[in-house]
Amino acid sequence: MQTIKRASDLLEALDRGESLPASWYTDPSITEQEIQKIFRKTWQYMGPLQQLKDLGDFITGYVGEIPVVVIRNQNGLEGFVNVCRHRRHEVMKGCGNSKIMQCRYHAWTYDLTGQLKAAPRSDREPNFCLDDYPLLSIKVDTLGPWVFANADENAKPIAEYYGKALEIMKESGLDLDSLELWGRGDWESEANWKTMLENYLECYHCAVAHPGFSAAIDVDQDSYKLTPYEWFSSQVGHVRESALEGNSKVKIYDAKGSVKQAQYHLLWPNFTININPGFPNLSIDVWCPNGPNKSKGFSEQYFGPGVDKKWAEELIEFNVEVGLEDDVLTNSVQRGLIGGIPAVGRFLTTSEGLCGHFQKLVVKALSD
Ligand SMILES: [Fe+2]
Repeated sequence: MQTIKRASDLLEALDRGESLPASWYTDPSITEQEIQKIFRKTWQYMGPLQQLKDLGDFITGYVGEIPVVVIRNQNGLEGFVNVCRHRRHEVMKGCGNSKIMQCRYHAWTYDLTGQLKAAPRSDREPNFCLDDYPLLSIKVDTLGPWVFANADENAKPIAEYYGKALEIMKESGLDLDSLELWGRGDWESEANWKTMLENYLECYHCAVAHPGFSAAIDVDQDSYKLTPYEWFSSQVGHVRESALEGNSKVKIYDAKGSVKQAQYHLLWPNFTININPGFPNLSIDVWCPNGPNKSKGFSEQYFGPGVDKKWAEELIEFNVEVGLEDDVLTNSVQRGLIGGIPAVGRFLTTSEGLCGHFQKLVVKALSD
């Protein structure tokens, strides 16, 4: 296992614009440490609060590979490790509404507060007491319209980390509480999760690699603002006049509407929020390691009430196009990193400062 030595040297190198060593993006032992020290100690997104309105509503997700179920029971929202105490099969699948939590393997049955109520044939088992096997608890919290879970029982309330990001999002002209979930989809990619997020965190590549995006948003260095906060990073851009007038040189969606800003936020470590100019809209992505050289995650799209279906589909298509362009870039970076030469790259601290901020959080988490 690679030991994390000289964190202070690495942090100084990052300040000078040097990258993390290539091995940090390819070594399985680094990924294992990230899962333990980053993904299991931070707030991980589970799903939209609007799917947890009624008693028995539940959603499922993962916190650093730990299956999690969040359910509305008589106490409010509660989170559990979504793993049966019997053979460790996942208890609940997907999302929905249920009166009980029943494992589909041997029908061990828990109530909505996680207490084991029935285990077939256990009455003939010596020394078996149902009370000894409740589902294990996990912390949950909400941020605006979203539900998160955290495997670190000492984690601070989520608003202490990202509360200010909600205020910034309001400045875009968007009412977060009015948003409705449009769709959700899983994705996989051929690059380390950090490779992908470091690409997300800068728009230095936009003019080169994203013709459509750059036609909609003013990506000039002096217009497109990058701001690091302690636990999140924000990019704020503005819609181009030519896009509003429909005079773009390449085909883009219709960007006219009450939302004037483009905003792209990364909530440490792996939850991103995208707001584009136009009719009220928002999308999120969750980015997780799938071994060192691949990532897996999912996206959700949200729109304000009364969105035109065709417009929504056009914006989703616009976002998919940007994502595919990014995948080509990050897959190529990953191949460079796998080669391992050069061992260290050079970032621009001015245009890519959010990448350095993100890398420093990685170093600090792994050296703790
Ligand atoms: Fe990009």
